[in-house]
Amino acid sequence: MHARITGTGGYLPAKVLTNADLERMVDTTDEWITERTGIRKRHVAEDGETTCDLAEQAARRALEMAGRSPRDVDLIIVATTTPDRVFPSTACQLQRRLDVHGCPAFDIQAVCTGFVYALDVANRFVQTGAARCALVVGAETLSRILDWSDRTTCVLFGDGAGAVVLEASEEPGLLSTHLHADGSFENLLMVPYGVSQGYDKVLAGEAFIQMKGNEVFKVAVNTLGRIVDETLEHNKMDKAEIDWLIPHQANIRIISATARKLRMPMERVVVTVDEHGNTSAASIPLALDVAVRDGRVRKGDMLMMEAFGGGFTWGSALLRF
Ligand code: ACO
Repeated sequence: MHARITGTGGYLPAKVLTNADLERMVDTTDEWITERTGIRKRHVAEDGETTCDLAEQAARRALEMAGRSPRDVDLIIVATTTPDRVFPSTACQLQRRLDVHGCPAFDIQAVCTGFVYALDVANRFVQTGAARCALVVGAETLSRILDWSDRTTCVLFGDGAGAVVLEASEEPGLLSTHLHADGSFENLLMVPYGVSQGYDKVLAGEAFIQMKGNEVFKVAVNTLGRIVDETLEHNKMDKAEIDWLIPHQANIRIISATARKLRMPMERVVVTVDEHGNTSAASIPLALDVAVRDGRVRKGDMLMMEAFGGGFTWGSALLRF
């Protein structure tokens, strides 16, 4: 049995923060942010607006496109680094909101690679017959773990959610997924406190993203180049057969480097980083949804997804849409 994406959905909070807004908050300029990252604006959740709120909207839109009702869903996976609560998981909260009962529901935490990890796991459920209609969501409120006085991180991230419905199909959809991690790089990108390692710091509002951006940048470019090769080799496929690159949206310079490696013109790359910033696990499904709804990505197109993030984690997915 194959697994195929039959619906996509996305949701962004209404509140927008432009580079000009950030100029008033930290020592930065629109020029620096645009040149170094490609980001012009990002969406930020209002106080009280949570990851599950965003996930629910994206999930409902994906189900609507797939022509499915929540009753059809038999697996819910939410990739997030910013769950509403320690527990229940955001997936269980989403399950309750959708009035779905009994099916497995759980979160996956692989930071910016979270959606690719979630897609891989859902694919295995569908391929083995354990699920027929999976809801796979990437949802984040990264704004909650940013130090808004740290110009090296606060200009980079945004909030949002993206979702896909992954269904059992006779026709091939997901062709392969490739997951990796190397925990030895934690000092380059992390939130240094959490539940077990300093909950007092969390309560004191000190648990924020720390990143050695320049070093992360170099590892990301090299690693993504390698995973693109791994994916093509595994499928015995030529670069020219890829219709669309749907990359994790961290930085336009990282995205362009991967596109160059694939010899893909930027017209064949879905870019949302300018409008969304880095929404971590939400960025790939959000980008996919944008390109599906504006008519660029069509049924039958060959898509390459790739992501790199904290952990370090990295991964890719090749699929026939
Ligand atoms: N405005 C103005 N100046 C700034 C800002 C800012 N917002 N931030 C940093 N600078 C300054 C630095 O202080 C530095 O000044 P100095 O030369 O006087 O020391 C200068 O700009 C250059 O800093 P770099 O860090 O070398 O800049 P770089 O070109 O590497 O761009 C960036 C920084 C955008 C963070 C880039 O390195 C990057 O995108 N890194 C990868 C991010 C990523 O992919 N993360 C993984 C996913 S995220 C996740 O998993 C949660």
